[in-house]
Amino acid sequence: MIVLGIESSCDETAAALVRDGRDVLSSVILSQVDLHRPYGGVVPEIASRQHSEMLPGVIDRARRDAGLEWGQVDAVAVTYGPGLASSLLVGLSAAKALAMRLARPLIAINHLQAHVYSPFLSSEAPPFESVLPLMALVVSGGHTCLVRSESATRFTLLGETIDDAAGEAFDKGANLLGLGYPGGPVVDRVAKGGNAAAVAFPRGRVRRPRDAGAGLNPDLCFSYSGVKTALLYHLRDQPLGPDDPRLADVVASYQEAIIDQLIDRCERVMTVGGVLAVGGGVSLNSRLRARLQELAARRGVRLLLAKPSHCADNAAMIAGLAGAGGGQRGAAAAAVDVVPALAMTTN
Ligand code: KG4
Ligand code: ZN
Repeated sequence: MIVLGIESSCDETAAALVRDGRDVLSSVILSQVDLHRPYGGVVPEIASRQHSEMLPGVIDRARRDAGLEWGQVDAVAVTYGPGLASSLLVGLSAAKALAMRLARPLIAINHLQAHVYSPFLSSEAPPFESVLPLMALVVSGGHTCLVRSESATRFTLLGETIDDAAGEAFDKGANLLGLGYPGGPVVDRVAKGGNAAAVAFPRGRVRRPRDAGAGLNPDLCFSYSGVKTALLYHLRDQPLGPDDPRLADVVASYQEAIIDQLIDRCERVMTVGGVLAVGGGVSLNSRLRARLQELAARRGVRLLLAKPSHCADNAAMIAGLAGAGGGQRGAAAAAVDVVPALAMTTN
């Protein structure tokens, strides 16, 4: 089955064609990051306008890159949440119209579940069904959560951030350090030259059960507002001058505090012989990838990292999860509307 995937939940306009949930025939991602950079974050009005303008061309480019005719597409899959309402609406409207025009089924996909699926978009990865149940970490600009998946339609939330997402911690920290937007890539690069033990930034913890989301174990939840505030005070008390040689040490220490929390929570849910899947924009981080590999080897766990091209927002993961049997189909999909605050557990 060949699925066309469409993704427009935030600031990437993307379309992809994926065969049988694994074989990525084409994947086009148009990032809007340059348009939002002057504002230091995503501006919803700019994002949706850009999606409306670019999506038709991005979809056709994906079809041509795959060398397919429209008649060879078996289904149309689209992100319906979570994300920016007006941006999601552009993708959902396009997908509904295309599905109707092609007389093919529409499959409505939860973006967070698709991030969980993203490491399986490769012939080197085992088939998704063969490693269930699995644990997954989704780390992006908007989300940080730990999940257990029993099937392509069953995802149980184990923990999530109670304040900022890990990607936000990278972005806000980089902003305080004057490193520009988005912060993740530049922090990753600058940290390579620094000593991660130079500054003792706090490792956030969620102590009280009532601070964690309903029914969640606080030990599996994340908190990133404290480390960001600690950086703010550190820079106030020990300002960095231009070209300050201490910059790399501060950046490496800050990054390590963010990553330590992710590693700690993963370690708590790992079981020997189990599988840990990791996706989302922050999973591009080279130090996080190395620390996860070290942890998995030490604990006898099979680690499945998304390929770099499938970490940040993309449409291959949307088409992939649809091809693996995920999402809403039939009458439910035809009636679906965008859900900006869609929970990880809802199909
Ligand atoms: O998955 P994504 O494209 O967007 C959301 O769905 O939210 O992730 C974007 C986030 C940004 O916060 C960005 O700073 C972060 O991923 N990011 C990184 C790296 N590359 C991107 N964070 C740490 N290290 C990186 N190399
Ligand atoms: Zn995402």
